[in-house]
Amino acid sequence: MIFENQIYESTQRFFKENYHTSLTEETIQVQKTRKEFEGDFTLVVFPFVKLLKKSPEAIAAELGEYLLHHLDTIDSFNVIKGFLNLTLKSNHWLNFLETIQGRNDFGFNPLIINSKPVLIEFSSPNTNKPLHLGHIRNNLLGSSLSKVLEANGKKVIRVNLVNDRGIHICKSMLAWQKWGNEENPDSSGKKGDHLVGDYYVVFEKHYRKQVEELVAGGMDPELARNKAPLMQEAQQMLVQWEENDPEVTSLWKKMNSWVYDGFDITYKTLGVEFDKVYYESDTYLLGKEKVLEAIERGLLLREEDNSVWIDLTNEGLDKKILLRSDGTSVYITQDIGTAILRHDDFDPSEMLYVVGNEQEYHFKVLALIMKRMGYDWAGMLHHVSYGMVELPEGKMKSREGTVVDADNLLQEMFDTARKMSEELGKLEEFSAEEKENIIRTIGLGALKYFILKVDPKKNMLFNPAESIDFNGNTGPFIQYTFARINSIFRKAKEAKISLDGKLDNTLIPDIREISLLRLLYDYPSVVKEAGDTLSPALIANYLYELAKEYNQFYQEFTILKEQNAGIRDFRLILSGAVAGVIESGMGLLGIEVPQRM
Ligand code: ARG
Repeated sequence: MIFENQIYESTQRFFKENYHTSLTEETIQVQKTRKEFEGDFTLVVFPFVKLLKKSPEAIAAELGEYLLHHLDTIDSFNVIKGFLNLTLKSNHWLNFLETIQGRNDFGFNPLIINSKPVLIEFSSPNTNKPLHLGHIRNNLLGSSLSKVLEANGKKVIRVNLVNDRGIHICKSMLAWQKWGNEENPDSSGKKGDHLVGDYYVVFEKHYRKQVEELVAGGMDPELARNKAPLMQEAQQMLVQWEENDPEVTSLWKKMNSWVYDGFDITYKTLGVEFDKVYYESDTYLLGKEKVLEAIERGLLLREEDNSVWIDLTNEGLDKKILLRSDGTSVYITQDIGTAILRHDDFDPSEMLYVVGNEQEYHFKVLALIMKRMGYDWAGMLHHVSYGMVELPEGKMKSREGTVVDADNLLQEMFDTARKMSEELGKLEEFSAEEKENIIRTIGLGALKYFILKVDPKKNMLFNPAESIDFNGNTGPFIQYTFARINSIFRKAKEAKISLDGKLDNTLIPDIREISLLRLLYDYPSVVKEAGDTLSPALIANYLYELAKEYNQFYQEFTILKEQNAGIRDFRLILSGAVAGVIESGMGLLGIEVPQRM
C-alpha cells in the first residue's frame, strides 16, 4: 500500500493547500488502473465534483499537475473522464523489487500481540463413516483459512469436533455385533474407518428391508421407520450408552479407535492438523446440563412426552428439539456444551465453524439459543458456510453409490499424476524416492488447488482430469512455473552467474516487466482481502494470473542469455521474486511446490 498511501496523502495536501478543505477517507479512492488504460494507479475524481463545482476533467487535470510536481514517485498522468491515471517512475518499481528481494514474509502481517485468538473449527466428522469428498473441501478450506488468518497477524487455534456418539455410531455398532463375526482392521486388512462405515451400510440395508416389510403389511411409512426392530434396538443401545453400560461402552471405544486410526491416515495424507480435538462424548453432558438449567429459568418448553424444545418463532424460525423424550441428547445439545467449553478454554475473539451450507439453519439456531441462554458472547459464533462438491456424472461412484470416498479419491489423484508424468516423460531422470514425492506433490496440488480456487460459497464440480492439466488454471501449472524458475537459477549457478543483490536502479524495464512487478505489488492486498472475506480462492486465482504473466514474460524475454548483465540480473531477481510469491501463496493454500518437476 506504499504507493496508494503516498497518492492519498498528497491528494489530501492538494485540497488543504488549494481549497482549505480536508477530505474524509472514503472520498479519496485510489485504485489499480484497469488493464485497458495507461497507468499504474487511478484516482477517482467524481466525488470531488460537488465540492469544487468544476468538471471532473478539470479537477483531474489540476490534481494531476499537482501530484506530478509534488510527488516524486509520479512519472506522468492522463485523464479519462473522471479518472486520473497515474504512472509511476520505473525506478520506484525497481526499489520495490529490491525491498522484497529474499524476504519470505512479504505480504504477511506480523502477529498482533496480546490479541485474543480466532478459533476455527473444521473437519468435524461423524465416527460411523470414512471421510468423503465434502470433508476434503472442508479440511482444505479450514486448513487454508487458518494459514490465511495467521498471515494477517491473527493467532489461530485449529479445532476439530468429532461427533463420536449418537444414533449413527450405534447403528454401526449394532450391525457389527449382529453380523461382524469379530472382524477387525487387522483380521481383514481394512482401514478402520472403512470397516466401521461398511457396517453402517449393512445396518441401513437390513433396516430398509424391515421398513419395507412393515409398510407392505399396511403400516404408515413414518411409523414403520420408527418401529422397525433394528431402529428400536439402536435407540435402546443409545440409551444404554448414555447410562454408561460397560459392554456398550467398550464396543464403542473399540470401534471408534479403529475409526480414529483411519482418520489419522487421511489427515496425514491431506496435511491437516489440529491444535485441539473436541469429542461430543465429552461435551454433550455440559450441553444437557445447560438445557436443564434453562428449563428451570423458564427459557425452554417441556412437552407432555418429556421432550425439551426451544421456541424460536419470534425470531422467524420454528421450534427446535433439544432433548428427546427418552432424555437422550440430539446433535445441537452437544454444540451448546462444546461452544461453552471452547469459550472457557481459549477466550477467543471469534469462533468460526467451517461447515457445509446444509447446516446454515443449525448454526442460526445455535447462535440464537446461546443468546437466549444469556451468553453475551454468542455474537462471535460465525458459520463459514461452503457449497457442495460433486464429481462429474459417472466418475468414481462409491460403494453406497452417492458419496465419493476421500481415500479413494486421493489414490486416484496419485495414480493420475503418475500416469501423466510418465506419459510426458517428466520424471525419467529422478530417483525412485524423488519421483514418488513429486507424484504426491502434484496429485495433492491438483486436488487442493482445484477445490480452493472456487469461491467457498459456491457449489462445484471437481473434475480430476481437468484439475491435473499442466496447462490450465491448475495447481500443477503453478507448481510447474515455480519449478521452471528454479531451473533457471540452477542453470545460473552452473554458468557461475551470481547475484550480488544489487539492482541497477537506472534501468528502464519493459512495460511487460512492470506489469509483473505490479502483480507482485498486489500480493499483500490479496492476502488481506482473502482474510477479510475468508476466501482462499482470491489467493488461488491471483497466483494463476501471476504464473500466466510470468510464463508470457519467460517466452518473450531472454534471461540467462541476456548480454547486458544489469538487465540479466534484474530479470533473475524478478524471477526469484515471482517464485517467492508463488511459494508463499501456495503455502497459504497448503500446497507444496517442487524444486523440479
Ligand atoms: N459431524 C457433523 C456432520 O458430519 C458436522 C459437525 C459440524 N460442527 C459442529 N460444531 N456442529 O454433519
